[in-house]
Formats: sequence, C-alpha cells, structure tokens
Amino acid sequence: MTRPLIVRTREELRAATTGTVALVPTMGALHDGHLSLMRHVRPLADTVVTSIFVNPTQFAPGEDFDTYPRTFERDVALCAEVGVDVVFAPTVDVMYPAGLDGTVRVDPGPLGRILEGEMRPTMFQGVLTVVAKLFGLVKPDIAIFGEKDYQQLTLIRLMAQELCLGVEVLGGPTVRETDGLAMSSRNAYLTEDERSLAAGISEALHAGAEAGSAGAEAVVAAAARVLQSRGITADYLVVTGPDLGEAQPGQEGRLLVAARVGEPRLLDNVAVHLGE
Ligand code: PAJ
Repeated sequence: MTRPLIVRTREELRAATTGTVALVPTMGALHDGHLSLMRHVRPLADTVVTSIFVNPTQFAPGEDFDTYPRTFERDVALCAEVGVDVVFAPTVDVMYPAGLDGTVRVDPGPLGRILEGEMRPTMFQGVLTVVAKLFGLVKPDIAIFGEKDYQQLTLIRLMAQELCLGVEVLGGPTVRETDGLAMSSRNAYLTEDERSLAAGISEALHAGAEAGSAGAEAVVAAAARVLQSRGITADYLVVTGPDLGEAQPGQEGRLLVAARVGEPRLLDNVAVHLGE
C-alpha cells in the first residue's frame, strides 16, 4: 500500500499526474461513501486524484464551516487503502486567487434554485464554482460524484455539458449504514437518539419506492406516513423525473427528501419506477 502523493499547487499537480486522470472531489472526513467513488474510478484511470478541500463559498454565514470535521491524516491513510495516487489538498489562496470576494461565480440556473437551492440559496453557486476550479486545476478526463447528493450531481453534469468542460461526469450509488442511513460526514453531529431516529428517513424512501406502481402521489404519501410515524418533519419530500424535471407516469423517477433530525439536516433519495 503506497501512501498517495500530497500536492497543494497546480505545478505539483502537473508533475504528479500522467495519462488518463480521474478526480474524486471531497471535503474530507472520508467514509465508505467517498471510498466507493475512489474504488469505482480506480480501474478507469492511470492517475486517481482525490481532492480534499472544505470549500468556504458553499457554506452560508452561520453554517458549520468552522466546525466541519477535519481528519486529514486519517483521510490520507484511507486514500492509500483504495489505491488513490494523489491527494490534492489546496489552500484557499490556490482555489481563490482573487480572494473569497472574487467576482466570477458559476450560476447554477433554475435547477439550482429548487429543493436544496431554495433552502440554501448560495450553496450550489459555491459548489459549481469550486468544482469548475478543480476541473481547471486537475484537468481530469473523468470525475465522479455521489448520487447521495442527487441535485448536486445533476447540476455538475449540466455544468460540464453546458460549459463544454470536456470532463466525463459519473455518478456513484449511495453507500448506507446497516440500518439504511445514507453515510454522510455530518452524521457525526447526530446524538445517539437522533442516530437511531435517522434510519426512518431511508425507511420512508423505501416505503415510497415500494408504492411506485400506484404513481407519484402514492409514493409521496407512503413515504410521508413513515416520516410522520417517527415524528420526522421533512423540509421537502418530492418525486421528480431523473433530471429533476416533472415526474412522468410510466417512467423512472427520483424520490428526494431533506429532513432535520435534531440539529443536522439529512438528505437522501432513491430511484422509483412509476406506474401509469
Ligand atoms: P462531500 O460531502 O465530502 O462529498 C464528496 C462526494 O462524496 C460527493 O460527490 C458526495 O455526493 C459523495 N458522497 C457523500 N456521501 C456518500 C454516500 N453515502 N455514498 C456515495 N457517495 C457519497 O459533496 C461535497 O463534498 C462537496 O460539495 C464537493 C462536491 C466536494 C464540492 O466542494
């Protein structure tokens, strides 16, 4: 098991990457969900780069930027276990050469204003801006993102296509704890009681998906019943099309939920097969 090379600048990246390059962007505090993305691209590229950067511009004032878990040495050891070649851990100055008040940002468009974008209005602009910068610095052929953050994955795919960035964007399936809870760095914020309650979110999605043959309304109703029985209030619980547009009867859809369990907001989603 070789320790990945740790690089901090564009010049160091150039020297460390050869052949086909795959990028796995993260904010660190790595768990099995992140590692599954690294394993997924390992056979597809000559150089696998994982970036670890807690991006200030996707946190609003009052959010958890300062307290976000930072576990760098452990993260590097986990990257070594899954065969990552390079860990790109830039400073804010490398990512934001014009400072955090730099004037050019990526506008996520209308799909960035619904769901998570409605709850956290500046987040997707921060995410797309930093991902565009990572693409410019790392110059990957492939980049992979988790379906766990389905709206983020959808917007990054759109950005890569519409801005002709020349990066193939892949999605990786959601990795779950044994009770179904989607893995997330923020699960560390849950108390023991909240942690057991949180499993109700994936149970609700499961119940919703089971009701797929009865159509989108039945899906939402079945999921809502489970949430209600656990006393969980959702910020949103919706069925959309796979591209986050309107759900179409007889086609694949996506059931998405965001809910606060105690302080942390948890996100999850599943595919649903909708009946006529
Ligand atoms: P972060 O939350 O660290 O997640 C990094 C990547 O891991 C994302 O693509 C996310 O969707 C994926 N991921 C998280 N939990 C997962 C799970 N349980 N199963 C599978 N994949 C999972 O998302 C971000 O960072 C940032 O917004 C980033 C894209 C790095 C831009 O700053």
